[in-house]
This record gives sequence, C-alpha cells and structure tokens, in this order.
Amino acid sequence: MKTNLIRKAYLDFFRSKNHAIIPSASLLPENDPTTLFTGSGMQPMVPYLLGEKHPLGKRIADSQKSFRAQDIEDVGDNRHTTFFEMLGNWSLGDYFKKEQISWIFEFLTQVLKLDPRRLYVSVYQGNSKINIDPDQEAVKIWQQQFKKVNIQAQTVKNASKKGMGKGRIFFYDENENWWSRAGVPDNMPIGEPGGPDSEIFWDFKASRQIHEDSIYKDQPCHPACDCGRFLEIGNNVFMQYLKTKNGFKPLENKNIDFGGGLERLAAAIQDDPDMFNIDLFKPLKKELEKLSQKQYQLNQKTTRAFRIIMDHIRAAVFLISDGAGPSNKDQGYFTRRLIRRGIRSAHQLNIQDNFTQNLARSIIKIYEKPYPGLKNNQNLILDALKKEETGFKKTLNQGLKKFEQLRKKQKHIDGQQAFDLYQSYGFPIEMTQELAQEHGIKVDLQAFKQAQKNHQKISRQGAQKKFKGGLADQQKSTIQLHTAAHLLLAALKKILGHHVKQKGANITAERLRFDFSHPAKLTEQEIKETQQYVNEIIEKNLPVKMREISIEQAREQNITGEFNDRYQNLVKIYTIGSYSQEICGGPHVKNTNELGKFQIIKQQSAGAGVRRIKAILE
Ligand code: ALA
Repeated sequence: MKTNLIRKAYLDFFRSKNHAIIPSASLLPENDPTTLFTGSGMQPMVPYLLGEKHPLGKRIADSQKSFRAQDIEDVGDNRHTTFFEMLGNWSLGDYFKKEQISWIFEFLTQVLKLDPRRLYVSVYQGNSKINIDPDQEAVKIWQQQFKKVNIQAQTVKNASKKGMGKGRIFFYDENENWWSRAGVPDNMPIGEPGGPDSEIFWDFKASRQIHEDSIYKDQPCHPACDCGRFLEIGNNVFMQYLKTKNGFKPLENKNIDFGGGLERLAAAIQDDPDMFNIDLFKPLKKELEKLSQKQYQLNQKTTRAFRIIMDHIRAAVFLISDGAGPSNKDQGYFTRRLIRRGIRSAHQLNIQDNFTQNLARSIIKIYEKPYPGLKNNQNLILDALKKEETGFKKTLNQGLKKFEQLRKKQKHIDGQQAFDLYQSYGFPIEMTQELAQEHGIKVDLQAFKQAQKNHQKISRQGAQKKFKGGLADQQKSTIQLHTAAHLLLAALKKILGHHVKQKGANITAERLRFDFSHPAKLTEQEIKETQQYVNEIIEKNLPVKMREISIEQAREQNITGEFNDRYQNLVKIYTIGSYSQEICGGPHVKNTNELGKFQIIKQQSAGAGVRRIKAILE
C-alpha cells in the first residue's frame, strides 16, 4: 500500500467515525514560545485539550507535518528521520479508551491488514508517588481485541530484565508510557496537560538478526528495546491530567490523543525495517543513484549518506515552504544545517553536480496532492536551495582541506579554529563536531561559543544604536510609525493573505522597516492597495486600546505577536478597531488620527521568502 493511500485510508476511516478532518498546521508553531518546531500532531491541539472548544467539534483527525530537530544526528540508520507525518485523531472530551483501542485495532488489522500476531502493545504500569494506578482498563480492552482474532494476550512486567516471554501486553514506567510535551511527569511544568499512554509495536520478525548482531545481543529483547526488531507505529495517549502545584488533577475533559507515524506504518505494511525503502523515497533514491553512480545498498557508508540526503532535503523543502528559509538563526539555522549536512553527504558520494533542486522537484511532486502548498512555493523553495547549495559548495572543499590540516597537526580543534571553520567556510559547529568524531578527535565547544560571543561583541560595536522592541527611541514620530507598523501588518494580511507573518521590525523617527514572510515580490497593485488600506484605517479615527491578559489566554485566542519573554505571564494586547490585534510591548499613539498619511517608499527582499517594506508617515 502506497504511503499516500495509507494517509487517505486513515483519514477516511476516522471520517467514517464522525471525525472532522483538519489540514496540517505549519511546522513553525504560531505563538508558541516553548518550542521552535511542531514536533507532534498534538502541539497545535493543546488549547483544545485544555478545554477550549474546537470549532469543528469533539472529534478531529489529521495528518500533521512534524519535525524533530533533536534527531538530526541520528539520521543515517534505518528508522530515524527528522521530518515525518503524524497521523492523529483526537477526542476532545468525547470517546475514550474503549473506542480508541478498538478503532485503532480495527484500522490496523482490517484496513491496513497488518497481521495481529505481529502486533504488540504497552501500557502504563502506574506510579503510587503520583497516585496513578496501573492501566488495567487498557489491558482489558486490548485483551478483548486480541481475543477477537484468537490471540490470548498475556501481560508481562519487567520485560527489560526478564525478556518478553509469551507476552503480548507490556507494562512499562513513565519513560515509555507517559506522554506530555515536556516528557515524564517530573519534567512537566505546572499547567501542562499529559497522561499515560499505550503504544503499539510492529514485530519485524524476519530481521531478528539485527538483534543478534547488535550491541543489544546480550540483552533480553522486548517491544520497547531499541534493537531493531520492533518498531513503534502508534501511540494512544489518554490525555486526562493537568499538572498542578499539588500534583496531578483530572483535566476538565478526558481526551484522546493518538499519534501514528505514517512512514513507520508504511514500513510495517511492507514488512521491511528500512524506512527508506518505502515508496516515498524511491524517486529520490533513483535520482541519487544516477548522480552518484552508486547503488543505495552498496555499503553501509553509501546507504547512510543516501539516507541523510533524502531525509534532510525533504525536511528542508517543507521547512522552507513553511517560512524557515536557511539563515543563521532560529528555525532557519536548522534548515541551513540540514542542507549543508546533505551537501556534505553528497560530497562523500562523489556527487559533483548541484542536486538539491532536482531532489526538491521530486519531493514536491511526491507530495503534490496532500501538500499542494509545496507546489505553490516551488520557486521560493528552489531558489533558497540553489542559493544555499552554490554558496556552501564554494567553501566546502577548502573547509575540508583546512579541517584535514588541523586534524593532522593536532588532537583537537580549538574554539577559534572551529569558529573560523564556521565563519570562513560556513561549517555549522555540529558539522565540525561530526567530522571530528569521525576522526576520533575532539572539538572545544565551550571555547567555540566564547569565540562566537567575542565576535558578536566586536561586530556590534560601532553598529547602530540598540533597538528596543524594534524601536530606536521613544520620540513621538517613532511611536507613530510603530502604530503604523501594526496597521501595515493588518493590511498585508488582508491584501496578500494570512500566511503573512511579521519577521522583524526596525523603527526610527524617520521611517519604519518591516520584514514579513511572503514568497514573491509585491506587485504595484498590491503595494497600492496595502497603502490605501492603511490610510483608510487611519482616517477612521480609531482609538488604540491596550489590555493585559495571560499568555495562555493570548494563545487560546490565537492573537499574533511576539512572546518576547516567555517567563513573564502577562502580555499586553494592542487593538485598533477590528483591524489589528497584536501582542506588543508598546508604546503606541492613542488614536489613529495622530498618524498622518502613510506611504510605502521601498520594497526589497530580506532573505528567502521574506520581503522588506520601508514606509514613512507624511
Ligand atoms: N502525542 C503523541 C506522540 O507524539 C501521540 O507520541
């Protein structure tokens, strides 16, 4: 079964169980200061799990794009990817364990036709310290399901010590069977939702040799061990607790958060533990085989390089499309790392030609139906990749030579040297570390950070005055332009669309400079309309109102703006009529009639997928 069909089958299945299907949210979370990327289907759903009403009801399903930056360095084995899709279904205070477990069992065994004898599950063993009992309820429901297909599902405790025996249902502690954004119960901040979960594993029996050859060979094998025999394909989270000062209290609603790895399901159906053998990667593999004149399976090193390139370029394509073009900071830095690591792997395969654009074209085509946004952003994606690839390839060879010289002379790379590799040759520090590790030498990371700091200090000296909240000073004309910047954002969203997000602002007494995400140059017509829209609001003599609310409320109400200080609980919201509502530190004028006439004087590019507008008030 092709991966695109699995996704469809899943959504159709849950549609038939009265779920509303929602599109994937962006990989870049909106107004969530706790994390840079959407790493699971549940993240965009947090307000609803906490009790807010979802406009589409109590049953929701989707396939959510997810990116886990922490896995970058694990990519290269047969199962890790940074980007993946998580199939999700949610009950927001509606159905609970019984329906969830029986539906998912039905989906896996009857729709996907996975052999139930090859499915194993885990449940939470409970913990008296947090007053939560072993999940016998889930055990019972699982046993009923397995019984339907003539499997007597026995439970096993302490499998990591005793082995799995004839067990089918495994009790594990919170390290395995608890889910929250922050991990185990102890790590959860107050106000965070979480709960015990029940995972489902596929048994790749045929590949038991993985177990026998590996570092795990002397350890008892069981579903949650990492030897490679089992693969987790889904997780049912019983999202029912809220962390409070005094331990856990039940959430307003008992919720279900199911997450299933789409690519993993495809691997299970194919019964091949190498996730990179699923259909999605086939065109990419072909392309790379052609370019490198090497077969994917040639040897371990080649296979690893192929996997890194396929994963990293796929992730970069999705990240760029969602607004994180390669750059030196925040999310863009990860995109840059991914592309550069991919380019280095291609270099290891002796690929001379530029390749990222061709791969990207294939990726966009593979995902044409489920993610049409990629096609719409094709030019943006291809341009960003090309720029990054040609730029980095210019310095890669020299940088590698430099690295070779250093490593032949010494046993470690010092901070300044690592910084030079970064500054002059574009080597992300993680890449230098990886190179060093390959040669069994060390990099002084602390000293690198210090060298970087020193450099930043120097380059800041003599640079422009420090900008506070984007404002150069608090003169009247600066404040007026600040309010105008809010209206500009509202106008851009209205004229260009809701994908527009503020990327930065810099406001002096003379002019405002405003950066925002948008894939194309604005037409003259768009500029004219934007300007006109701002002036129309100004002419309405609207009061600019401020109120203070908690970050949680702001997030629940989906108000855009910058959560600058995530530890400060109250944020200021500035509203201008029904046109603009933003989280902002201020200051602003009292009424739009103080602004005068708004005029755009310049537009330019400010990086991949980011436009810059300069404007004045006359
Ligand atoms: N949120 C759960 C997970 O990511 C489903 O595993």
